[in-house]
Amino acid sequence: MSDSTPTPPLATLRVDYTRNQLLESEIPRDPFAHFHGWFDEARRSGMREPNAMVLSTVNSAGGVSSRAVLLKGLDERGFQFFTNRESRKGEQLREEPRAGITFLWAELERQVNIEGTVELVSEEESDAYFAMRPHGAQIGAWVSLQSRVIPGREWLEERLREYEERYPEPGVVPRPPQWGGYRLVPVRVEFWQGRPSRLHDRLVFTRDGEGEAWRLERLSP
Ligand SMILES: Cc1cc2nc3c(=O)[nH]c(=O)nc-3n(C[C@H](O)[C@H](O)[C@H](O)COP(=O)(O)O)c2cc1C
Repeated sequence: MSDSTPTPPLATLRVDYTRNQLLESEIPRDPFAHFHGWFDEARRSGMREPNAMVLSTVNSAGGVSSRAVLLKGLDERGFQFFTNRESRKGEQLREEPRAGITFLWAELERQVNIEGTVELVSEEESDAYFAMRPHGAQIGAWVSLQSRVIPGREWLEERLREYEERYPEPGVVPRPPQWGGYRLVPVRVEFWQGRPSRLHDRLVFTRDGEGEAWRLERLSP
C-alpha cells in the first residue's frame, strides 16, 4: 500500500553533519593506517556492507562508467576486488588500467575517495579467494557472462541447472579462467568528514607512485 502523505520537495532534503571531525593532529601519516581505523569503525557501526564501494573506470575513448563492487582484500599494496575480467569493467581496465573508488559511509557522515592504477591479483590469490566463496557464488561465476546481453531470465536459469549438474559438490568447483581479482594501488586517498554548515573536513594524501612518500594536505570543502 502506498503512503498518501505528500513527499516534501527534493530540494528540501537536507542533513546537517555533526557527528565527528577530522584533524591533521589526530591522524596517522599513512592513508592505509587511517583507512583501517575508519573501516573498523564502519564495520562496528553495524551498517550493511561497509565494504561496498563504487568503482569508476574509463575506456580508451574517455568514456566513464561506475558500479558497486565489494572490497575483498586490503594490504600494504592496495585495495582488492573480484569480478569477471571479460565484463565491461574488465574491458575498460584492460584498455586503461586506472580507476577511482568511493566508499560512502553515510551513517558516519564519511566518504573516502581513492584513485590509482589497477593491476591483476595473482592467479594464486584469485584461486584462494574463489575457494572461500559459497558453492552458489562459485556456480554463479560460471553461469554469468557478465555484462553480455542475454535472451532472458530463463537462459540464466537453464545455465544454472547445467552448471549445478556439472559441479554438484561444494569444494571442488574450479575457478573460471575469466574470473579473478584486481588491486587498485593508490596514488591519492581523500578522507571526507561531514561538518556543520557544509564546512566539511577534507584531508588528502598524495604520492608520486608506489613506494614514494605520502604528502598530507587539507582541501577546502
Ligand atoms: C553492493 C554491491 C556489491 C557488488 N559487488 C560486486 C563485486 O564484488 N564484483 C562484481 O563483479 N560485481 C559486483 N556487483 C555488481 C556490479 O555492480 C555490476 O553490476 C557488475 O559487476 C557488472 O558491471 P560492469 O558491467 O560495469 O562490468 C555488486 C553490486 C552491488 C549493488
